[in-house]
Amino acid sequence: MKVLVAGANGHTGRLLVQNLDAAGYEAYAMVRKEEQKQEMEKLGGIPVLADLEGDVGHAVKGMDAVIFAAGSGSKTPPEKTKDVDRDGAINLIKATEKFGAKKFIMLSAMKADNPEQGPEKLEYYLKMKGEADAFLRNTELDYTIVRPGALTNEPGTSKIKVAETLDRGSVSRSDVAKTMIACLEEQNTYRKTFEMLEGDTQIEEALKSL
Ligand SMILES: NC(=O)c1ccc[n+]([C@@H]2O[C@H](COP(=O)([O-])OP(=O)(O)OC[C@H]3O[C@@H](n4cnc5c(N)ncnc54)[C@H](OP(=O)(O)O)[C@@H]3O)[C@@H](O)[C@H]2O)c1
Repeated sequence: MKVLVAGANGHTGRLLVQNLDAAGYEAYAMVRKEEQKQEMEKLGGIPVLADLEGDVGHAVKGMDAVIFAAGSGSKTPPEKTKDVDRDGAINLIKATEKFGAKKFIMLSAMKADNPEQGPEKLEYYLKMKGEADAFLRNTELDYTIVRPGALTNEPGTSKIKVAETLDRGSVSRSDVAKTMIACLEEQNTYRKTFEMLEGDTQIEEALKSL
């Protein structure tokens, strides 16, 4: 299965590329800069140059699935949050629909449907994430929207907690990446949105409980 990872040079993106390759998928690593390509190859990825703010059609063409793990980051102005986290995601979703991949996995965030319930400084970001998620839900794609709490760089336990809504908490990027990959084939996650935190249940079992 050919899987495109948008945001492949990011912290979670790199784990996605590595784990996809290790699991036998063809991991297409979408990056913005020529100099990032070599690192993607070292991780087992097949580099593809594309920017979410530009044409992404060539990156999506021929893929079986697309994973969105990009983000504007916390140090950019609100315009970038809109341009990347909302409009960049929507650009990629539209290309996915147009070029035929059926499966789309979105790395979203807890409280994206209720930004006012999250931390005040994240309200605008959560609103943009929520709008991208709403766009995805209105497509015919087999989407899965994964909404983790605060991301950590801990090694990961492969044990998580999932539900439509959860209290605040954290989860490792490693377990988020493994969960997103498991969603590619776990049909019980198709056309579903869920929040996730570190927990006591094996990833596969947790996904079946949704
Ligand atoms: N941090 C948290 O606690 C938290 C919690 C819940 C959800 N999330 C979500 O999880 C996402 C991933 O987190 P992370 O820490 O792994 O992200 P990260 O390390 O900040 O990586 C984000 C990646 O997105 C890429 N990107 C930015 N703009 C782009 C564009 N226009 N076109 C293509 N790629 C672009 C960046 O590319 P470059 O490498 O070229 O800059 C970067 O590699 C976040 O963005 C956020 O939406 C985060």
